[in-house]
Amino acid sequence: MKEKIENIAQELEGFSSHTTDEIENFRIKILGKKGSLTVLFDEFKNVAPEEKRLYGKPLNDLKQKALEKIAVLKELSQSKNGKENKAIDLTLPAEPQKMGSRHPINLVRREIIDIFNRIGYTLAEGPEIEDDFHNFTALNFPPEHPARDMQDTFFVNGENYLLRTHTSSVQVRVMENSQPPIRCISPGRVYRNEAVSARAHCFFHQLEALYVDKSVSFADLKQTLLYFAREMFGEKTEIRLRPSYFPFTEPSAEVDVSCMLCKGKGCNVCKHTGFLEILGCGMVHPNVLENCGIDSSVYSGFAIGMGLERIAMLKYDVKDLRLFSENDVRFLRQFSTII
Ligand code: DAH
Repeated sequence: MKEKIENIAQELEGFSSHTTDEIENFRIKILGKKGSLTVLFDEFKNVAPEEKRLYGKPLNDLKQKALEKIAVLKELSQSKNGKENKAIDLTLPAEPQKMGSRHPINLVRREIIDIFNRIGYTLAEGPEIEDDFHNFTALNFPPEHPARDMQDTFFVNGENYLLRTHTSSVQVRVMENSQPPIRCISPGRVYRNEAVSARAHCFFHQLEALYVDKSVSFADLKQTLLYFAREMFGEKTEIRLRPSYFPFTEPSAEVDVSCMLCKGKGCNVCKHTGFLEILGCGMVHPNVLENCGIDSSVYSGFAIGMGLERIAMLKYDVKDLRLFSENDVRFLRQFSTII
């Protein structure tokens, strides 16, 4: 009996085949109805009681070992889709890894940061949960201004804290903490209490640019805008400024760029005007400078604010804003080749 147990143990040890058929044949040979180990269990019934004590445990252990080894080998023989792996060829090239891609909003943000970096702007960040002062008061919002309306703003814990409605709040933080010359850009997520649709969302992304120094003029602003538009949308791009109103800038303007799709000739996207609105801007209001501890009789500056979704929609011809936050890989994968 001892010898037989050892023989089967040796056989088990030496078995290393990988095909499902071979493993099954081996299982039958050892554990099948007439398998060597099954037969040994039958013989065991007839051995003398003192021998039983000797061989009972080794026999059971061997059976357990055989079951385990067969189970492991079977698992190894199955490839991940359940097909049989005839043999493992280690020289085959690895299965291609699916590469992720940058999010279109990220692509646009990185591009804009790059463009402003080249003319000396550095990055600045601020919190997404803001207080009233940084989001509104310091930016010269009168208390009755509609942007403070409960409809537009998500308040947090009463009326003093809110989810920032724009990145202009970062301007205030930068000016509070440093003296001119200041040249910074602040990209980030902003929140508005809006009904979600193809054109509006309750959160989106903005990027703010701020330049404050001695004798900064509207001409500097205009040239910076032209530089930005041409770097971003192509060297033939033209810009157009329309008077506008923002509490924190005076004068304020809305900026259009010549439509990059029809080259200004007029098409459906630009509604046959030849121009597309891309951002708001203006000369920083003296009240804002003073609110942030900067002497408005010595310094002046300009600010620019734009929505990244809007720019990405124009650049990649995306028709629905919701696509940017739905995480549908069929949408996101399309940007994989654009670095
Ligand atoms: N904060 C404005 C908004 O959310 C955007 C903006 C307009 C920012 C003009 C500016 C600016 O810095 O000068 O609608």
